[in-house]
Amino acid sequence: MSAPFSDKRIVLGVTGSIAAYKACELASRLVESGAKVTAVLTKSAQQFVGPVTFEAITGRRAICDLFERGQEAEIEHITVARNADLFLIAPASANVLAKAAHGLADDWLSTALLATRAPILFAPAMNMQMYAHSATQANVAVLRERGCHFVGPESGRLACGDFGPGRLIETGSILEAAAALISTDRSLAGKQVLITSGPTREPIDPVRYVGNRSSGKMGRALAQEALRRGASVTVVSGPASAPLPAGATVVKVETAEQMLEAVRETFAACDVFIAAAAVADYRPEQVYIEKHKRDVRGMDVHLVPNPDIAAEMGLRKTPGQVLVGFAAETEHLLEQARQKLEKKGLDLIVANSVAPADTAIGAEDAQAALLDAQGHVEDIGRVSKETLARRLFDRIAQALPKTSDLPVRP
Ligand SMILES: Cc1cc2nc3c(=O)[nH]c(=O)nc-3n(C[C@H](O)[C@H](O)[C@H](O)COP(=O)(O)O)c2cc1C
Repeated sequence: MSAPFSDKRIVLGVTGSIAAYKACELASRLVESGAKVTAVLTKSAQQFVGPVTFEAITGRRAICDLFERGQEAEIEHITVARNADLFLIAPASANVLAKAAHGLADDWLSTALLATRAPILFAPAMNMQMYAHSATQANVAVLRERGCHFVGPESGRLACGDFGPGRLIETGSILEAAAALISTDRSLAGKQVLITSGPTREPIDPVRYVGNRSSGKMGRALAQEALRRGASVTVVSGPASAPLPAGATVVKVETAEQMLEAVRETFAACDVFIAAAAVADYRPEQVYIEKHKRDVRGMDVHLVPNPDIAAEMGLRKTPGQVLVGFAAETEHLLEQARQKLEKKGLDLIVANSVAPADTAIGAEDAQAALLDAQGHVEDIGRVSKETLARRLFDRIAQALPKTSDLPVRP
């Protein structure tokens, strides 16, 4: 773990949570891994842990107040914010999420969060009702949309005695997420990545459709990871709830046929194609022009197969392109995934278990394995979609030919 943090300047924001004591261990692990850590304690955080502990661990003055004087005659929150490689807020209280989402700047940490261009990673920790509250969820959604990153919280026993999501995720996961954000990996610079994402909606009449539960979170994680590695990213997205990162070109579609058209337009120019959308396998044969009236005899909707976008791109594939598919299966996962990989001419496939206990669709994490065309299987286990995206792009980067090996594409 030492390489990613070597000489990196990390601002560790500690807020008023019962989990604040865990930030001491986090600071210690970061320092051990070579990071230069500046701890910032909100007023509430100081009720739980003291600056002296962080100063002893980090070897640097811990910042406790916007108006205290630093050693240099400089505006400290601006200088520190400007020079930081990462802002890591752990634990992040409901309050700091609300302040950041609304752009409030009433203490050192919230002011510096507005002033920095560094990536921002929040590790929330709070009572499960506070986390589930629609106000907190809306704040998280706004911050994600603006490009902030989140790790956790995890489910478990909370200090208040409740059991559920709200506990600060374990230190190892925070370090892993921080390492990924701070990486200088530009392995996809100059590469074009095309991703399909989200569900499709197949109309029955002007108000009804056949659809599925896909949220687009996997597509978002893939787009973020590709952008982080320096790629140009196009996402052809069905009507998904998860917002896409600002740096991606987004083509919005509704149906599988529209998605296919949009993919056809950009496929030839891409180096990597990832079919992550949950495309409806079938669509209603007849689409009513007027709203179909309620009828006590019921209604027959005959479904016909939709085009298979990944399979068509498998046929169009030219040397040097890497094609990745997703197989969401409830049973015989690896066997089904292998068949899909071969039938569609893919280089890699992510086998996602969507058995009731594992379901990846709409969830924050996924139970997955990676299969390649050479017959290798890598069990990824249950991981966040961000981690899955990272592991997948590690494999894609290996599969991509070196620029010098490539024929020139028209
Ligand atoms: C014992 C105790 C534990 C708390 N734990 C949390 C917590 O885990 N998460 C949280 O969001 N707020 C928690 N709070 C409430 C925050 O400390 C409070 O909202 C405060 O205003 C947060 O300020 P800050 O975000 O500036 O640190 C706790 C309060 C107390 C008294």
